Amino acid sequence: MSGPLGEPTVIVVPTVVTDRLILRCWRAGDIDPYAAMNADEETMRHLNGTFDRDATERLISHLIGMWVLLGHGMWAIEDKGTGEFLGRAGLYFGPGWPGVEVAVSIRRDRWGEGLGMEACRAAIAWGFATLAVGEIVTFTNRDNAGMNAIARKLGMTFQGEASAIGPWRDNNVYAITRQTWEARTSG
Ligand SMILES: CC(C)(COP(=O)(O)OP(=O)(O)OC[C@H]1O[C@@H](n2cnc3c(N)ncnc32)[C@H](O)[C@@H]1OP(=O)(O)O)[C@@H](O)C(=O)NCCC(=O)NCCS
Repeated sequence: MSGPLGEPTVIVVPTVVTDRLILRCWRAGDIDPYAAMNADEETMRHLNGTFDRDATERLISHLIGMWVLLGHGMWAIEDKGTGEFLGRAGLYFGPGWPGVEVAVSIRRDRWGEGLGMEACRAAIAWGFATLAVGEIVTFTNRDNAGMNAIARKLGMTFQGEASAIGPWRDNNVYAITRQTWEARTSG
């Protein structure tokens, strides 16, 4: 029998450390800074618009839950130097997705420092090291210059357009195979 709050459940979310970032499991303290990102029109321009704190909390629960259901998911991004919340990144999958997707959002005052690339590289490296996938994909609105640039810079190949993937419209789809990733990162 569980108590009124239920039995505690241990959910294992790996932590990945890069030069400047810590990709880690979500904490209650991430809700407010992530809600601020989700309320920012410029940040959400290509992500179907802004949403509020309650929706942010539900989204975080979903992002944590994916780790349990699928064995991968999205991390909170922490600044390794200061501990500040910087956004979210990781490997997402949803119904109708063309594959396991690398996805990222960075706090707007920190755009242009290479942090999006750094987080995506770490997520892809973790994915190929951990998951039995032959390729990792990404897709983004065709007008999202930043994410299209990141996909190309990661060495991903343009696969074509997809008018709708889940809630996302007018997507450019990219993919990188395990073989290509390993060739790019070896040596
Ligand atoms: C897209 C996003 C993640 C980019 O993050 P970032 O940390 O600023 O990106 P980086 O600094 O790592 O830039 C990587 C490359 O993309 C280029 N780039 C980044 N933003 C760009 C933009 N708006 N227009 C053109 N190129 C851009 C950079 O110039 C860099 O290439 P370079 O090294 O050759 O100069 C960030 O703008 C963001 O969070 N946007 C809102 C959320 C979003 O749309 N996420 C993607 C969909 S999942």
